[in-house]
Amino acid sequence: MDLSIIIPSFNERENIEPIVERIHSALRDQGIAYEIWFVDDSTDETVSVLTRVESIDEQVHVHHRTGARGLASAVVEGFERATGEHFIVMDADLQHPPELLPDIYRKLAAGIDVVIPSRFVSGGSDGGLGPLRKLVSWTARVIGQVALRRLRKISDCTSGFFGVHRNVVVGAPLDPIGWKILIEVLVKGRYRTVHELPYEFLARDAGESKMSLQEQWNYFRHLFRLVSQSPSDRRFFLFCIIGASGVVVNLVVLTILKYAFGISDISASITASLVAMLSNYIWNDQITWRASGKRKWNVKLPLFVGISLIGIIVTTLVMNGLKHLDVPVPVGQAIGILVSTVWSYAMNNRLTWRDSAKQLREDVIVTREDRRIRSV
Ligand code: GDD
Ligand code: MN
Repeated sequence: MDLSIIIPSFNERENIEPIVERIHSALRDQGIAYEIWFVDDSTDETVSVLTRVESIDEQVHVHHRTGARGLASAVVEGFERATGEHFIVMDADLQHPPELLPDIYRKLAAGIDVVIPSRFVSGGSDGGLGPLRKLVSWTARVIGQVALRRLRKISDCTSGFFGVHRNVVVGAPLDPIGWKILIEVLVKGRYRTVHELPYEFLARDAGESKMSLQEQWNYFRHLFRLVSQSPSDRRFFLFCIIGASGVVVNLVVLTILKYAFGISDISASITASLVAMLSNYIWNDQITWRASGKRKWNVKLPLFVGISLIGIIVTTLVMNGLKHLDVPVPVGQAIGILVSTVWSYAMNNRLTWRDSAKQLREDVIVTREDRRIRSV
């Protein structure tokens, strides 16, 4: 079997026959051996429609679940049952055009590990969503991309439409919560190459979306679980927490020096940054990059200090510049800290703890259409 199409379905009675029909017309003459797997949690007549279609069409298989529910877990059960060399996951409601299946399949057959039709590359569109859903969807994507590095280069990481070689997902420890099976696959799957192609996400003709507030909450639970399970993302997260603790140390020291001891603004700012810097070094060395890297403290500390000193100058320049614009000194200092922290994080990752950071660097190549754009 070349290809298994996996379709999660929940109360889609009007859509089942049309989608099967359109999949057949898209693939019939392509010389591809394929099967269609519905993983269904429906509570309405969809169940009998599926049973009928399965009995007359030998390419259609149905797994009806009664205990479980949920889009992502349905897809995982599809991965377990499908027999194809390649899998394509799509929605049952025809918002994902079956006419794209041959293009996706050809990329997979040519050796690409993950193929993602995208609403957000030129030529694509997400016209099938209303303005509020678009905003919610954009916010969700950005938060996901900040939290998880493997999502950063992927333009449509929350899509429900994608193809994979079976080895990407079979045997991977998939354990998703809620809806977003693709982020689970991108974080935990085994792959080297990703290809994106444009598509138009159309409006539904029949039935309605099952998206809910509960699912948006599940998305955050899912992200949180993925961050805690993925070493490189956990490190980034720790980085941020330690940075925040350094901000508190910095502001407390500055305020005490300025208001309790009457020390000048510039000296108070410098001293506060030095104390925060030392505290950040110790925590980052003990927690963020713990147990990795051969470098001794007598290399790391000077590098960290050098980077931080430049950071202190940046902080103080920002504070002093803003003071002339009548910004209160602690507020100016806080903004300066923000700017210099982002910069020094990037530098420390590249220099100070370079050898430990390298262990987590991956080499995934993302292409869009045929243009090679960047490697991560
Ligand atoms: N088995 C099963 N169980 N299927 C489900 C469940 C469930 O609990 N909930 C939803 N589905 C099925 C629907 O029947 C449909 O085939 C598909 O999952 C997507 O559900 P929709 O309700 O149509 O979602 P949407 O259109 O709002 O959003 C979809 O498209 C977006 C763009 O690709 C989802 O796939 C989003 O994750 C995606 O971002
Ligand atoms: Mn839909």
